[in-house]
Amino acid sequence: MFGLTGRSFTKTLDFTPDELGDLIALADDLKAAKRAGTEQLALTGKNIALLFEKTSTRTRAAFEVAAFDQGAHVSFFDPTSSQMGHKESIADTARVLGRMYDAIQFRGKSQDDIETLAEHAGVPVYNGLTDEWHPTQMLADFQTMRETSGKDFARLSYAFVGDLRFNMARSHAVMAAKMGSDLRLIGPQALQPPEDVVELARSIAAETGGRVTVTEDWREGVEGVDFIHTDVWVSMGEPKDVWTDRVALVKAYQVDGNMMRATGNPDTKFMHCLPAFHDANTTVGAQIMDHTDMPDGLEVTEDVFESSRSVAFDQAENRLHTIKALMVATLT
Ligand code: CP
Ligand code: NVA
Repeated sequence: MFGLTGRSFTKTLDFTPDELGDLIALADDLKAAKRAGTEQLALTGKNIALLFEKTSTRTRAAFEVAAFDQGAHVSFFDPTSSQMGHKESIADTARVLGRMYDAIQFRGKSQDDIETLAEHAGVPVYNGLTDEWHPTQMLADFQTMRETSGKDFARLSYAFVGDLRFNMARSHAVMAAKMGSDLRLIGPQALQPPEDVVELARSIAAETGGRVTVTEDWREGVEGVDFIHTDVWVSMGEPKDVWTDRVALVKAYQVDGNMMRATGNPDTKFMHCLPAFHDANTTVGAQIMDHTDMPDGLEVTEDVFESSRSVAFDQAENRLHTIKALMVATLT
């Protein structure tokens, strides 16, 4: 389908703007079909391996439910239930799983690991998050932005606020550039995105009409935007003891009512890939909020997160439809 049969998706760069657009259009169709009860099974008899070195709720659920909806089967491997990495190399694991499964999802720290898997598996390999990229999240984010704004990708303007060094901001830089959108990456000096990613994104944007701006000035950065996105301030795999210093660095970039109003756009919506620290109802969130004296939330305040402007749960649901589209397009 769309020339994607047999292809891996280890980073957003793997697919052209047309291919990404086709995948999101397919996700729209699959979402409508599921709601209407008219979904056709395209993956009957397929077997998908789900390898998770890091924890997950949405990504695992989306791959599993997407597979079940389409008639496929999954095996879930957590970090302790396979030999990969400690007793067997990534390349050997890839060659074994590739003999048994029709596709492999991998979530872990290292981008090199997933590239090695894709090189040796002989079946499509999907990146369910590494430190560098979170490409399946980009499909859901763009489906959600079009759906909730009614705007084509090339007319979207949005901000990503907070830690600009990690998978989410890096992926948005490339995805916005590919889809011709106007992205403002907003965060403190110490958490700026890597130069090579910004240069890459800008070189893509020069072809598509997109724009990628990097700024420390959130007031200027959010002007007029359709969406403000943020992410956790400390990502999976980072040591717990960085929290206090990180909060001090980035607390001025908390998404609160003031920042939402500063867009000057009454329709600006809030997005978050989740999980989010917006209240004290998690062990880690409660500890950090208490310790850093931030009672209203960390990267986003409770009032913004719970407001009608927040489309974070639509975004979470769209992980299912977009991941399903990815599997259908690459396995049929
Ligand atoms: N957004 C996201 O990837 O969520 P999980 O970590 O729960 O999979
Ligand atoms: N940057 C976050 C994204 C979680 C979906 C992390 O890597 O933990």
